[in-house]
Amino acid sequence: MTLIDVRNYYRKSLKNYYSKNEIDFYFKILINSFFNWDSTLIALNPKKQLTILESSKLIKTINNLKKFKPIQYITGESFFMGLKFKVNKNVLIPRQETEELVEWIINDNRDFQNKTNVIDIGTGSGCIAISLSKKKRNFNLTAIDNSDKSLLVAKENASLNKVKINFINNDILKPLNDKTIYDIVISNPPYVADSEIKNIDDKVLKFEPYNAIFVDKKNPLIFYKAIIDFSLSNLKKEGKIYFEINPIFYNSLLTLVESYNKFNLVVKKDISNKNRMIRLMRKNE
Ligand SMILES: C[S@@+](CC[C@H](N)C(=O)[O-])C[C@H]1O[C@@H](n2cnc3c(N)ncnc32)[C@H](O)[C@@H]1O
Repeated sequence: MTLIDVRNYYRKSLKNYYSKNEIDFYFKILINSFFNWDSTLIALNPKKQLTILESSKLIKTINNLKKFKPIQYITGESFFMGLKFKVNKNVLIPRQETEELVEWIINDNRDFQNKTNVIDIGTGSGCIAISLSKKKRNFNLTAIDNSDKSLLVAKENASLNKVKINFINNDILKPLNDKTIYDIVISNPPYVADSEIKNIDDKVLKFEPYNAIFVDKKNPLIFYKAIIDFSLSNLKKEGKIYFEINPIFYNSLLTLVESYNKFNLVVKKDISNKNRMIRLMRKNE
């Protein structure tokens, strides 16, 4: 079969599932990821003959697309802050909002060139810790997660991106045996209340790890409280905590933070104008 034959077969098989533009878009991602072919190849050389192995690899993928499996889990890779990350069902697919958080942290600490101890809590694929380590050479990163399977992926991503990170399996909801004093604490913790399941895209529910996303509706701020408590012993004065947050819980988070009377809070909106990130600076007292 030629490249265009397979692309046409995609269009025919998936027409009840996706628009033509989406099908063509996925097709280009797949030929690029599977065979490292430029996405313009279909326009430049539509009659390129595929081997049986190449065409069957593409055709087998159609079933996964019919199940609406996210393209990142099909190719096994995702891009974050311009870097490539391996992903599988054990880690959340890195999100654009989280890129905005990382950009904020980079810009907010641009003038600070001294060695900076940073911890990323709930590292998942490692996207926050690894991209910061890559882009801020003075940052010394520790990253924790309570999932061994996530940590395996994160470690692989650190070597793929050639950075050194201190990965530790720790449960942030239990006291940590960590004596390090950090300059910066970062977390994008699970923040969707399980009562919101009905509003969540099927694709997310079916394919992404539940424990990375959902939190008990009776205690939706449990991770934020645990991380603030950890910071009381492990964050230096005038050190900063950066959180990605659920806009729905912004007001209750504000109340929680004020109850400590130890932090100055700044909120930042995401590209959709939602309260998505906060920075807590520890008071110098
Ligand atoms: C929303 S995901 C964030 C993943 C990644 N940092 C990102 O931004 O794409 C939350 C992460 O927290 C981890 N996690 C859940 N419960 C945890 C706990 N009790 N202690 C440490 N990590 C936990 C999950 O395994 C998951 O990797």
